[in-house]
Amino acid sequence: MAGDQQQEEAMAADPLHVVVFPWLAFGHLIPFLELSRRLAARGHAVTFVSTPRNVARLPPVPEGLSGLVRTVALPLPAVDGLPEGAESTADMSPEKVELLKAAFDGLAAPFADFLAAACAGGREQASGFGRRPDWVVLDFAHHWLCPIAEQHQVPCAMFQIITATGLAYIGSRRQNVSHPRVTVEDFMPMPRWFPSPPSLTLRRHEAAWFAAAAQLNASGLADTERLWRTEERCRLLVVRSCPEVEQPRVFPLLQELNRKPVLPAGLLLPEDGLRETDGGHGDGTGAVVARSGALQWLDEQPPGSVLYVALGSEAPVTAASVHELAVGLELSGARFLWALRAPSAAAAGTPLLPDGFEARTRPRGVVCAGWVPQVRVLAHTAVGAFLTHSGWGSVAESLRFGLPLVMLPFMLDQGLIARMMAARGVGVEVARRDDDGWFSRDDVAEAVRRVMVGEEGKTLARNAMRLREAVVGDDGGRQERYVDELVECFQRHRFT
Ligand SMILES: *[C@@H]1O[C@H](CO)[C@@H](O)[C@H](O)[C@H]1NC(C)=O
Ligand SMILES: *[C@@H]1O[C@H](CO)[C@@H](O)[C@H](O)[C@H]1NC(C)=O
Repeated sequence: MAGDQQQEEAMAADPLHVVVFPWLAFGHLIPFLELSRRLAARGHAVTFVSTPRNVARLPPVPEGLSGLVRTVALPLPAVDGLPEGAESTADMSPEKVELLKAAFDGLAAPFADFLAAACAGGREQASGFGRRPDWVVLDFAHHWLCPIAEQHQVPCAMFQIITATGLAYIGSRRQNVSHPRVTVEDFMPMPRWFPSPPSLTLRRHEAAWFAAAAQLNASGLADTERLWRTEERCRLLVVRSCPEVEQPRVFPLLQELNRKPVLPAGLLLPEDGLRETDGGHGDGTGAVVARSGALQWLDEQPPGSVLYVALGSEAPVTAASVHELAVGLELSGARFLWALRAPSAAAAGTPLLPDGFEARTRPRGVVCAGWVPQVRVLAHTAVGAFLTHSGWGSVAESLRFGLPLVMLPFMLDQGLIARMMAARGVGVEVARRDDDGWFSRDDVAEAVRRVMVGEEGKTLARNAMRLREAVVGDDGGRQERYVDELVECFQRHRFT
């Protein structure tokens, strides 16, 4: 196998031991794991650090690589108010996440012990886990980690799972000194350090997220401050993205803003979700399961006819917006498959969908309340477009299949991503009220029709296929080159 050969060559040349440590959210854990797999496929040892319940819930590493990826579980300290056993953002309501950050900061001492042990003996010549770590790859929240790594002369690289455009929008501490932003209005236009003309703007409710992220919070530290403190002590910035999908010239800009090398890691999309076996399908966690109901239903729909609807697992969707979305889908007349999770804010026992919705939209519409194999749904020939909250993970997954987007962003950088994709002509946003972001059923129906029918829809679909070519062209070779360049950089810039 090419992978084995590659592995041996890398082993022989210059093997690394990399410690990776994502923030405690699955949207972070999974891309960090994808990066780990790709490092291991090149013969480098990866120690993946998290907490016990998160480690237990990770999808398994492919067998051929299991000798090169090991997990280390540091027990999460208890914090008042944090639900017992809750170790990731998925285990709690959004307002508890600040407490998770407080608990996370308590991992500094156990991590210091782990790293001291890993560095003891200092076997620089060894390979595998016996080798002292060459790098720590960390996330935005780890402001306490670099000082620990520096004591052992292990350099840190920050791996960012958001877009380069989003990072450049946040800027570094120096930009905030020369152009301070405090109020929500300050965060609405693109910052002055962006090349003009500034083509993107944020709505008030979106800008409010960034303004809040700059505020002191219950964990004792504003998110932006966490990010800056961590970034300032890292040697490298690695971004889960690539220039092909970003605003023009944003990678060089980011390098200027942060005064350090900035490398694209590519989109790092999981591959195994697509592997098929006779009569069954991998479910992305390595198990073979029966073809799910959602896929069976898709099998019966005409090619390109279905809108896949999913708003991610953590978008703060209210019951009222689910209702409006439902009526909008009904009005649009489009075929749809809706992966619907109950909003965390929904009162127990209140019906989510309008009265009689499922009866009226059947058989052209299906609502799935359970787990939906998103990657295989997006890959299905019956799916023609994706209605998404425009989280970076979801948009990246759909880019791989060249699907046009109907976009309904809710928080964080989702508005920025939606505007980036609209500017590229690969999707349209559901129109929303500027101040509070409210949207109506008619706004939903109109955006869906624009993407699903007529000339505009065809143009969007063509553009999406073109962007797909740019991103996954030459059969994934470009993705592999990004990781190769990252590895070379790790090898060049380590402490020796
Ligand atoms: C940016 O600068 C302003 C003005 O000094 C300050 O009030 C604000 O807290 C700074 N932002 C962050 C995230 O520190
Ligand atoms: C923490 O930040 C969130 C938004 O990011 C905000 O809703 C919450 O009120 C803040 N909590 C404190 C204690 O400042």
